[in-house]
Amino acid sequence: MTVHFIGAGPGAPDLITLRGRDLIAASPVCLYAGSLVPAEILAHCPDGARIINTAPLSLDEIIDEIKAAHAKGQDVARLHSGDLSVWSAMGEQLRRLRELGIPFTVTPGVPSFAAAAAALEAELTLPGLAQSVVLTRTSGRASTMPEGETLAAFAATGAVLAIHLSMHVLDKVIAELTPHYGADCPVAVVWRASWPDEKIVRATLRTLDAALGEKLERTAIILVGRTIGADDFAESRLYAADYDRRYRPVGAAPRFPEPT
Ligand SMILES: C[S@@+](CC[C@H](N)C(=O)[O-])C[C@H]1O[C@@H](n2cnc3c(N)ncnc32)[C@H](O)[C@@H]1O
Repeated sequence: MTVHFIGAGPGAPDLITLRGRDLIAASPVCLYAGSLVPAEILAHCPDGARIINTAPLSLDEIIDEIKAAHAKGQDVARLHSGDLSVWSAMGEQLRRLRELGIPFTVTPGVPSFAAAAAALEAELTLPGLAQSVVLTRTSGRASTMPEGETLAAFAATGAVLAIHLSMHVLDKVIAELTPHYGADCPVAVVWRASWPDEKIVRATLRTLDAALGEKLERTAIILVGRTIGADDFAESRLYAADYDRRYRPVGAAPRFPEPT
């Protein structure tokens, strides 16, 4: 018996890995995290599977479900939205499973920041403008931010910020970022990226509040930085015709000898 932690992706049911889909289909128990996992993904569960929404459960109750499946020798598909490496609460479950000696696997998923960037048709790292992306959030009721991990501290680097879980404090986000990026800095809010009702609002830090009009709550990412919507940037050296590289040697004395 194994518990398979699976990143279920950002929302579109076909944005799950083939491995994740196959593990769901082979597991007689499926625990999924709330409304961000679409019904079409649950349709991969085998007939008669025990399918439980864990949103109303405590950690102890979730572990009890896993222990019950373990006692019956039944594999469990444990689904969380996006990828498991950020804000999934997987860490605390893995710690319990290690203590209990229950085996598990981890299968990554498409994170929501990547789905938001795809919705914007954007490469977040562009030569000369930004080469780092910070995945971050603001304090919430359930989680406070460690000292030092402030938006202002990240903004001071000029990196692109992908701000999660923060639509409820949008005014504060704008106020904290504007002194660092400037009021004309591009920003985009992508709400429910990859879902059928996805919405995109592009603006600047100055115009975002007015551009949003209606309040877009909860399931949205705020992307801030000079690469958002940028058209004026240098081409990368990687594909430059005169750039001598291992896979495309150039000139009389290439740096890397051709593979034999
Ligand atoms: C609990 S976190 C889960 C993050 C997830 N593990 C991931 O890989 O993106 C939930 C937050 O992720 C963001 N989010 C999740 N799905 C999203 C989507 N489809 N579109 C935009 N933002 C999304 C929102 O900021 C939301 O408040």
